[in-house]
Amino acid sequence: MDYNKVISAMTLEEKASLCSGRDFWHTKAVKSQKIPEIMVSDGPNGLRKNPSAEDHAGSFDSIKAVCFPNACATGASFDRALLTKMGKALGTECQAENVSTMLGPGMNIKRSPLCGRNFEYFSEDPLLATEMGTALVKGVQSRNIGTSLKHFAVNNQETRRLTVSAEVSERAMREIYLAAFEGAVKNAKPWTVMCSYNRINGLHASENKTYLTDILRDEWGFDGIVVSDWGAVNDRVKGLSAGLDLEMPGCFGTNDRLIVEAVNNGSLPEKTLDRAVERILRWIDRYTSKRSKDAKWDKEADHELAGKIEEESAVLLKNEDGILPLDKNDAIAVIGRYAKTPRYQGGGSAHITSFKTSSFMEAAKGKGHEIYYADGYDLDKEEVDRSLITKAVNAAKKSDVAVIFAGLPENFESEGYDRSHMRLPENQNVLISEVLNVQPNVIVVLHNGSPVEMPWVKDVKGIFEMYLGGQNVGTATYNLLFGKVNPSGRLPETFPLKLEDNPSYLNFPGHADKVEYAEGVFVGYRYYDTKKMEVLFPFGHGLSYTTFKYSNLKVSKRKIKSRDPLTVSVDVTNIGRMAGKEVVQIYVAPPCDGVPRPVHELRAFDKVSLRAGETKTVTFELTSRAFAYWDTSIHDWYVAPGEYTIEAGSSSRDIKFTKKISIEETSRRPMTITENTCFGDLLKIPEIAGELRPVVNSYLHKEKKDRPKSSEAISEKMEQEMLGFSPLRSVISFGDGEYDHEKLAKAIKAMQNKLDKK
Ligand code: BGC
Repeated sequence: MDYNKVISAMTLEEKASLCSGRDFWHTKAVKSQKIPEIMVSDGPNGLRKNPSAEDHAGSFDSIKAVCFPNACATGASFDRALLTKMGKALGTECQAENVSTMLGPGMNIKRSPLCGRNFEYFSEDPLLATEMGTALVKGVQSRNIGTSLKHFAVNNQETRRLTVSAEVSERAMREIYLAAFEGAVKNAKPWTVMCSYNRINGLHASENKTYLTDILRDEWGFDGIVVSDWGAVNDRVKGLSAGLDLEMPGCFGTNDRLIVEAVNNGSLPEKTLDRAVERILRWIDRYTSKRSKDAKWDKEADHELAGKIEEESAVLLKNEDGILPLDKNDAIAVIGRYAKTPRYQGGGSAHITSFKTSSFMEAAKGKGHEIYYADGYDLDKEEVDRSLITKAVNAAKKSDVAVIFAGLPENFESEGYDRSHMRLPENQNVLISEVLNVQPNVIVVLHNGSPVEMPWVKDVKGIFEMYLGGQNVGTATYNLLFGKVNPSGRLPETFPLKLEDNPSYLNFPGHADKVEYAEGVFVGYRYYDTKKMEVLFPFGHGLSYTTFKYSNLKVSKRKIKSRDPLTVSVDVTNIGRMAGKEVVQIYVAPPCDGVPRPVHELRAFDKVSLRAGETKTVTFELTSRAFAYWDTSIHDWYVAPGEYTIEAGSSSRDIKFTKKISIEETSRRPMTITENTCFGDLLKIPEIAGELRPVVNSYLHKEKKDRPKSSEAISEKMEQEMLGFSPLRSVISFGDGEYDHEKLAKAIKAMQNKLDKK
C-alpha cells in the first residue's frame, strides 16, 4: 500500500474516524480507499472472540474456544519454548477466526499479592516477565497475528484503576515496572502496545508523551501502534499528540469530532493525525496482506496442549517423606469441589468460554483407583458446613492418604477489583485442619491466581500449586500426582508468610486517587531477601520427583570492564532415578557500597531437561545490563565499579555456588562539583587529589602550628568521618581561614577541569 497516497486521498473526517473503533472489537473500514475493518480479541490465555459488537469484560459469551493456563501458571514454567508453542497455537486460532490481534500478554509486575489481575501477569521479576512475554509474542506473531503488550504502564492494581495515579520513582520505573515492556518491545517487536487506564505520576497513561513516545518509540524503537485500554482515553487530542494512535472501543464519533475540530482550529497539527493514521494503516496492512484464508484450528489438539503446558507449569511446593507421587494401590480420599469442578481461569476480559474441561475426578475415572470422594466445602459460601466436613473426615479416615483440592473461589480474584486479604475461604482452612486430625498423610492441591496464606503448611505433607491451570487442568493434575509427569514449575513470585510482610503492604492500594510506590525497587524477593525475612516459599522455588546436583560454576573472567559481557556456566546432574527438568537460576549480587540495591537479582535462567544420571553444562551470557542499576543523576543505566558475586542456584534462597568477579569502571559518571559537594565523594577520585589536598588541609588545620590535637570529644576517626560528610563550603567556616568563596571557586574550577579531561 502506498500510505502517503492513501492518506492524502482521505478526508480529514475519514482520518479522524479511523483513529477510533467501529465498536468494541473492530476498526472502521475506509470505503473510499478500500481499507477493510479488522478485528481484535482478548486473550491472552485463549481466544475470547466475541460475536457481539458490544460486550464488556466478558459480559457477553464469546465463541467456544480453549482456555490455556493463565499467565500466573505459564510464568511458573520458566520455559521460553513452551510459551512460544502456546503463542503459535493462539496465533493459528486467530488466523482461523479472522482475528488480527490478540490483546495480550499482560506484562505488569506483581507488586502486591492482592492485585485482582495477578493471574494475568507473569511475575514479580522483570527478567522472568520479559522472557515469558517475549516468547509468547514471538509465537503468536509467527502466525502473522499481532499482539498487544498491556497495560503500559504501572497498572498494578484494580482499585480505582481508571483514575488512580501510580506515584513511582524514576529508578523503580526503569528497573522494575518498565523493564519487562522494554525487553519484549526490543526482543519481540509486538505489533501493538496497549496503554493503561491509570495515571502515571499524575498524568494519564493515555496522554503521557514520556512513555508513549519518548521511551517507547524513541528509546526502545517500537514501530507498531499504541491502542488505548478500553475506555482509557481521557483527552483524545492530547492523547493523539502524545502518541496514542487508536482509541478503543468506539466513541460514537464524539472524540473523532474533537480531533477534526482541533485540526481545523490549528491546535493539532494535521501531520500528527497523519502519523497515527499511517501507523494504523500499516498495522491493518500487516495483517490483511498475509492473511491465510484456509487456516484451521484443531480444538482437541489445543485442549491437549493446554494440559501439557499446565504439566510443565504446576509447582510442587512441598513433598515431605516423599509422599508424592501417589501410590496407585493406596486408598485415596479426594476431598474438595475443585476435584470435580476445578477453578482454572480468572474473571473479566481474559475469561474464555471453554469448549470442554477436564477435572481430576474425570481423569482418574476407570483407572482402577480406590477413591473416596467428598465435597468438603461449599463453593459459593465461606461458612463452615459441619455435615460436609464430617463426610470429608470419614473419607479421610478410611483412606491411606487424603488429597484436598482447595483454592480461591471466582469472586475472590478478578479483573475490576482487588482482593481484600490473602487467605483461603475459612471453610477450606477448617476443612484442612480437621482432616489433619484424622489423617497424617495430607496433600493440598491449590487453584488460585496469586499467593495465599497457609496456616497448615507445617502439618500437610504435600502441596501442589496448580495456579489457574486452564481447561485441561484435571488431566495435568492427575498425571502430576501419580508421577506420570515429573513436576518442573518454579514460583514466579514469593509467597510471603502473611500479607503484612509484603513490601507494598502500607501503600496498597493507596488513598483516594494516589498510590505511592514507596518500596521503590524492593519488590518481591528483592525486598524479602534483602531484609533476610522468613517467607512461606521463596521466588524460584519448586520441587521435582528427582534430585539435581550443581557443580563446576565457572566465569569467563575474574576481572571485567563495565561494558564487557561475562559468560557463566554451571554443570547440573540428575542424580535421581527419574527424568526431570531443572530451572537453573543465576543471580547477581552487587557491591554493597553506593546506592541501596537489592541483595541480589535474577539475571539469567534456563530450564534443562535431564535423564536420570545425565549431566549438562548450562551456559549464560550476561551483558552489562546484568550489573547495572538506573542512575538518576545521569538518567541512564550505570555499572558501578567493585566486586560482584555471581550466584547459581535453584531458588532465590537456595544458592548452590558463588563466584566473585570485579568490575572496573570504563568511563566515569559525569559529575558537577559545587560548594555543596562533600569531601568524601571527592576523596574517592584520585585524579583530583592534587587540587583537593590544600582544601582538605585547610579544613583540618593541617598547615597550622596551633592545630588542635584530637581530644576525647573529637577523635581522629570522628574528624575523618566529619570531613567525609562535610560539603566543600565548610572549609570557609571550619577551616584555618585560608579559603573564602572566591578562592574556593577557583579550587572547584581546577578540580572540575581535571575531571572533565578524564
Ligand atoms: C482490559 C483489557 C482488555 C480490554 C478489552 C479492558 O477492560 O483492561 O485488558 O484487553 O478490556 O476487553
